[in-house]
Amino acid sequence: MRLSTRHLLGIKNLTPNDIELIFQTADNFKEVLKRPIKKVPTLRDTTIVNLFYENSTRTRISFELAEKRLGADTINFVTSSSSVSKGETLIDTAQNILAMKVDMVVLRHSASGAPHFLSNHINAAIINAGDGTNEHPTQALLDAYSIREKLKSLKGKKVAIIGDIMHSRVALSNIYCLKKMGAEVTVAGPPTLIPKHIDSLGVHVTYNLKEALEWCDVANILRIQLERQNMPLFSSLREYSLFYGVNKALLDSLKKEITIMHPGPINRGVELSSDAADSHHSIILQQVENGVAIRMAVLYLLSGKQEV
Ligand code: CP
Repeated sequence: MRLSTRHLLGIKNLTPNDIELIFQTADNFKEVLKRPIKKVPTLRDTTIVNLFYENSTRTRISFELAEKRLGADTINFVTSSSSVSKGETLIDTAQNILAMKVDMVVLRHSASGAPHFLSNHINAAIINAGDGTNEHPTQALLDAYSIREKLKSLKGKKVAIIGDIMHSRVALSNIYCLKKMGAEVTVAGPPTLIPKHIDSLGVHVTYNLKEALEWCDVANILRIQLERQNMPLFSSLREYSLFYGVNKALLDSLKKEITIMHPGPINRGVELSSDAADSHHSIILQQVENGVAIRMAVLYLLSGKQEV
């Protein structure tokens, strides 16, 4: 079985079969990660560059670990210590790295569309590790995979995505992924942080946090992305937290148990309190753990090698 695409630029162009293939392949790699020796030689002949033009903790480390667990050679590129500061373009940087016989590129960039642009100019498989406010496909895959693991299936499950939907590539990729796999999605947050016409993606919209929490099986809480807001979209973080912050008392007041997720990094005490983030409701660290298996699956399936 193969993916229908040569690159992973977003979830938008994946088929449900692609997503299911990634999940089944990740199941196999999760077994590998439970062994005493958590490594297979599947990508022994493959060299992968992690091109990170924007800060990252989880995604960069997770990709690097996934590459190492697959036996690939890994190069980490961080813009602050590179010739980007001397004016080198994205295409020139990538072409020069590929001239050293690199096979795959993992790209994080603050510009929406950067991986799509690069895919038209270089001859290597590209994996989008987050582009501006557009998509973060491996985050959505690991989120959906974690819900599937917890609730056994995605079909018919109710997922509320809460917070800064407007600036969130995680929200858009999650909406595409969850809808393709048969889940129902509600987005919730202040009107200024929810894009107009988002209901055209087949999601419900509410501005009432409690209503979203009462409705859902899973709440995926998003970070307030102050670095992407060039004008104030709510009056203060304190007020945001009062109206849209999720805390343990709120979870305990619901008539049912729900699962709490967050892609990280968390603004503790703003969108999510510590007592909720660290409670039995939370699968936040399982998301991080599953990210390695999901990224191993994506790297393997895009590498063209077909044996696990
Ligand atoms: N979830 C996520 O993308 O985190 P990082 O920015 O730390 O990679």
